[in-house]
Amino acid sequence: MKIWIGCDHAGYDRKLEVMELLKARGIETEDCGCDGQRTDYPVIAKKVGQAVAAHPGDRGILICGTGIGMSIAANKIRGVRAALCADAFSTKYTRLHNDANVMCMGARTLGGGLALELVEVFLDTPFEGGRHEARVQMISDLEQEW
Ligand code: RB5
Repeated sequence: MKIWIGCDHAGYDRKLEVMELLKARGIETEDCGCDGQRTDYPVIAKKVGQAVAAHPGDRGILICGTGIGMSIAANKIRGVRAALCADAFSTKYTRLHNDANVMCMGARTLGGGLALELVEVFLDTPFEGGRHEARVQMISDLEQEW
């Protein structure tokens, strides 16, 4: 599993911390920008989202001020199931039940310690499958219908 990671200017410092964690865990990572300059978050959400959609099994991490803009934008891309992650329970269950393949976080809303813990949960929690398979398929079907 490769991680595609991106941020806007608000999320840049936090992205560097997350990348340190990924490096320490030996996880292959590709940085899709930005490099700290003022950046429109949909541009980065598109890059990460398209990469994750094109590589099933890979995952994405997106960081902006609140995580909300990134999640709204990433979810416009077919195949992306982006979740705004702000607590451990929701992060765990969006993997178990929704098979979320992109996590979004707010750099202005979460402390660094919590953010890194949430990344660990996102990385380490598998999709439960079973009864959730059909529901995730229904989400995919929506992408074809609308
Ligand atoms: C940038 O100021 C801010 O709007 C952005 O980082 C994000 O919070 C949007 O959802």
